[in-house]
Amino acid sequence: DKVVLAYSGGLDTSVIVRWLQETYGCEVVTFTADIGQGEEVEPARAKAQALGVKDIYIDDLREEYVRDFVFPMFRANTIYEGEYLLGTSIARPLIAKRLIEIANETGADAISHGATGKGNDQVRFELGAYALKPGIKVIAPWREWDLTSREKLMQYCEQHKIPVDFSSGKKKSPYSMDANLLHISYEGGILEDPWAEAEEDMWRWSVSPEAAPDEPVYITLTFENGDPVAIDGERLSPATLLEKLNKLGGANGIGRLDIVENRYVGMKSRGCYETPGGTILLKAHRAIESITLDREVAHMKDELMPRYANLIYNGYWWSPERRMLQAAIDESQQVVNGEVRLKLYKGSVSAVGRRSTESLFDERIATFEEDAGAYDQKDAEGFIKLNALRLRIAAGKGRKLI
Ligand code: ARG
Ligand code: SIN
Repeated sequence: DKVVLAYSGGLDTSVIVRWLQETYGCEVVTFTADIGQGEEVEPARAKAQALGVKDIYIDDLREEYVRDFVFPMFRANTIYEGEYLLGTSIARPLIAKRLIEIANETGADAISHGATGKGNDQVRFELGAYALKPGIKVIAPWREWDLTSREKLMQYCEQHKIPVDFSSGKKKSPYSMDANLLHISYEGGILEDPWAEAEEDMWRWSVSPEAAPDEPVYITLTFENGDPVAIDGERLSPATLLEKLNKLGGANGIGRLDIVENRYVGMKSRGCYETPGGTILLKAHRAIESITLDREVAHMKDELMPRYANLIYNGYWWSPERRMLQAAIDESQQVVNGEVRLKLYKGSVSAVGRRSTESLFDERIATFEEDAGAYDQKDAEGFIKLNALRLRIAAGKGRKLI
């Protein structure tokens, strides 16, 4: 029996390796991915070896992550509950996919992960795994074991000779954090009081808007088929581009968020997020769509967006309904080409210019100056009168509106 574990190299998942070996007597295969969490992944190799793991997978998935998950999601201008840019949610289907691929390669019949039984991540990993391999077994140690406190975890390490420096060199953060190329998230600690403001030194990716430079920074983003491809004319790979937007946004205090959200399992949870590059990208994508998309297409996208956001948040990336929506979204993006000029300043990002060879904006029609006969203002009279017809009939019959 073999199990593939999503292994971070940290203390918790190292305990899981040993626990799986002892509880299930099975061989553990570890899988560690670089999705831009900003920590070295190579040290996970030696740690896994020290725990007796023979099959060790370490993958750089940064480009695939941004190209095949983040960008497709941004084509829909996706936001959950009006605010959350889904930085953790969108990374999970990629991890689920790799876990199953590795299970297939190694002949493993189970997967395992370090998500708790209270959260969204367990749902995302497991829905993805079942969708891609219906017969797979899932082992979720946090739902099974009794290592429910930090002390019990430490005790387990001592008893089983797991070096405690596995908890990474840095001082243990008081928050539960999760990071990848799209965002970093903070939960727990003092954030469990929704009235308590986060301490300034919690934020790791951005300066506060107050401390941001007093001079604005201008950048130009180029889009092709709805995806960003260049910054200031320099073509960049998806991961490189997002990384650069994160730096620019972070330096200007852009992309901080503090919310209480509804988890799929039914509870409310308070989270803080930094999504500097994503916040810029969303603003820019809406701006390029504003001149290239037909009105009804744009409005229909906006109606579908919350459904698309919910299904990503709830873990249904690998589902028929997500494929269906994605096909419609992608079809709309063929004309979403051009450039957006953006102003970054003390926590805000504004689109200050947009242009496209596919632009539907017609100066001759929109102008307040005399137009060249492309639009006849007299036509508006009948347009308004017919739209008012039912209102006039009802009013004529004495229907009250006030
Ligand atoms: N609440 C966010 C979400 O559900 C972030 C979860 C963070 N995950 C974590 N393992 N700390 O998408
Ligand atoms: C967890 O419970 O493992 C993290 C939070 C979440 O998944 O929502």
